[in-house]
Amino acid sequence: MIFFHTLLALAATLLLLPTQIHAATKYKGFSMGANTKTGACKSQADWEADFRAIKSWGKGFNCIRLYASSDCGTLANAVPAAQAVGFKLLVGVWATDAGHFGAEKAALLSAIQRFGTAWIAGVSVGSEDLYRKDISPQQLANQIYDVRGMVRQFNKSIQVGHTDTWTAWVDGANDVATKACDMVIINGFPYWQGVPIRDAIKQKTFQNSVWDTKRHIQAFAPNMPFWVGETGWPTQGDHFGGAAPAKTNANNYYNNAACWMFGNINLVGAFYFTAFDTPTSSGDHGGVEKYFGIADSNRKLKWTLAC
Ligand SMILES: *[C@@H]1O[C@H](CO)[C@@H](O)[C@H](O)[C@H]1NC(C)=O
Repeated sequence: MIFFHTLLALAATLLLLPTQIHAATKYKGFSMGANTKTGACKSQADWEADFRAIKSWGKGFNCIRLYASSDCGTLANAVPAAQAVGFKLLVGVWATDAGHFGAEKAALLSAIQRFGTAWIAGVSVGSEDLYRKDISPQQLANQIYDVRGMVRQFNKSIQVGHTDTWTAWVDGANDVATKACDMVIINGFPYWQGVPIRDAIKQKTFQNSVWDTKRHIQAFAPNMPFWVGETGWPTQGDHFGGAAPAKTNANNYYNNAACWMFGNINLVGAFYFTAFDTPTSSGDHGGVEKYFGIADSNRKLKWTLAC
């Protein structure tokens, strides 16, 4: 009997352990664009309604990754909304072209002058520019140094890096840009690799993209912090190779890949793509880009969140 009770206690301890430790990334949330479901630029009230919906899901989401600073008045509208809800923001500064980069920097400067820096989780200069070959790695490095110089005048602990696909991060030609980063932000989509959901889960396709990136970068930057900028699975749209959009597949992907990344203490931050469906996104591939939300465009969750 005593043995039985000991076993029960042990079982209870093991079951409780994960929730007691609260092992998780410091920052947990979604990568989100600046347009409403009708395609309009989000107002401060729109951003706040988005953030409150995400907070109401009760899973500890505390941070949002943005793509732009000046476009759609993103920072001017999103920062006060984040402050009202208690969320932090991973700022996005578009790196191309030169005129756009200048406007993005000016919008970040203006947001810091208005709102201080306590709302900043970090700054990403550029998003998938190396993957698209829109900028040379050396030019991107110069712009990362440029933005770091600007923000560090206000707060010396702000981390400035870049977001790109795992395939760009493991390409040695881009190491010069990587070396300019305080942190590396990784995007990986087994769906866009054409991997069937069952294989993506079993072979840990997404986890392997994170591990491959770390292995490549730790060889020359052993203390580099890693974040995930985007991963996700669509619920509608065309098949891509062996990858099929479906609610069951997206739910399965979320429970496996997303829950793994959100619970990974070796990642500083992790962002799922995305919170809400975006009906005005491109119609290519059967409109698949519209359907990466874990909630529909009316902010209603498509499945019960496991994490
Ligand atoms: C300085 O930046 C860090 C990191 O972004 C932030 O957590 C902290 O709150 C900022 N400090 C102030 C005084 O705003």
